[in-house]
Amino acid sequence: MGTVLITGAAGFIGSQLAYRLKKDGESVVLVDNFSYGSEDNLIFPEYNFVEEVCRIDVRDVKGMEQLFAKYHFEQVYHIAAITPLPDCQVSPIDAVDVNVRGTTVVLELSRKYGVQQVIFASTSAIYENNEKFPSEESFVTAPSMIYANTKFASEQFCRAYWEAYGMPVVCLRFANVYGPHIDCLRTQPPVMGYIIREFFQGNQPVLHADGEQRRDFIYIDDLVDLCLAVREASSYDIINVSTESSVSIKTIVRLIAEEMGCENIAPIYTDTAHYWSKYPDLYREPYPISKKLLEHEVLKYTCLSNKYAMEKYGWKPKTELRNGIAQTVRFAIEALNERGKNRYYG
Ligand SMILES: NC(=O)c1ccc[n+]([C@@H]2O[C@H](COP(=O)([O-])OP(=O)(O)OC[C@H]3O[C@@H](n4cnc5c(N)ncnc54)[C@H](O)[C@@H]3O)[C@@H](O)[C@H]2O)c1
Repeated sequence: MGTVLITGAAGFIGSQLAYRLKKDGESVVLVDNFSYGSEDNLIFPEYNFVEEVCRIDVRDVKGMEQLFAKYHFEQVYHIAAITPLPDCQVSPIDAVDVNVRGTTVVLELSRKYGVQQVIFASTSAIYENNEKFPSEESFVTAPSMIYANTKFASEQFCRAYWEAYGMPVVCLRFANVYGPHIDCLRTQPPVMGYIIREFFQGNQPVLHADGEQRRDFIYIDDLVDLCLAVREASSYDIINVSTESSVSIKTIVRLIAEEMGCENIAPIYTDTAHYWSKYPDLYREPYPISKKLLEHEVLKYTCLSNKYAMEKYGWKPKTELRNGIAQTVRFAIEALNERGKNRYYG
């Protein structure tokens, strides 16, 4: 195998993928601008990638081209993105610049330097306005949030590169991902990272609506398995990465509490608007954001069909939720104890 490029390699998913490829004896080049990622993610028992990572912004065409020219990558995993929904909503120009323009830089350089396949990290958020479940790859989608639209637009560019140039590109639509290295420390961590952090600090997690909203959670190792399985694809493809089952936030809280011995800490369930009230810019006249849209975002149900991934790539998610949460908690507590102290930013 030739060299594999991973962008966004200091983030949760990119770092786990890098670790797996390295363990399998592959040659990897890692790119991140550390806008969200962290060096902590790059330290594993057997490998320390901190010195290896190229601190480049994916929008830096010159810097990126130097890497493509030097390594002639066989494959590219384009994982880098601005992922927190509120950040994308508050700064849509940056979101489009990084997520869409950044993807175009990667696609164009991949074309120019003859990369054999690009694998793009897309999202289940694309289905946010669909009402039929489980969501299938063939559904027509029309998302409303900025984040989902940046991914939707990027998928269109991926398709365009396949249709115009025959360059194989696979778009993986990840459901909610969890597992070791999930970020607990950023301002808006993913829900599991947030609950673990609050329990760890003895706080009551503040959650939204009644906790009965249900999401599809996929464990990181299962996701990485599929990231590797799709390397055989030789055309354009869109693939859901999911368990095809939905779990309520209340169940997630209970499983984490049991794992951490925090059953005595009761979460606080607040109004759905609470989550977004920290972003006053969004409520500014004359065009304040639609409250209905935000409510829909908080309450939305997700469940993605995984039949296509199973049938075409022989893949199957293996991790039982309770075991996956146990692994997630174990790693997060270690990280919060040992490395989180100087990196807590509220
Ligand atoms: N985590 C999930 O539940 C989930 C769900 C669906 C889709 N995804 C997608 O998977 C990918 C990875 O998600 P994650 O959870 O690991 O997020 P993450 O924020 O942990 O990782 C993203 C990485 O991209 C880097 N990055 C951002 N802008 C960059 C730029 N301009 N140049 C170079 N690097 C840049 C960040 O520093 C970070 O390390 C993202 O594309 C995300 O949209 C994630």
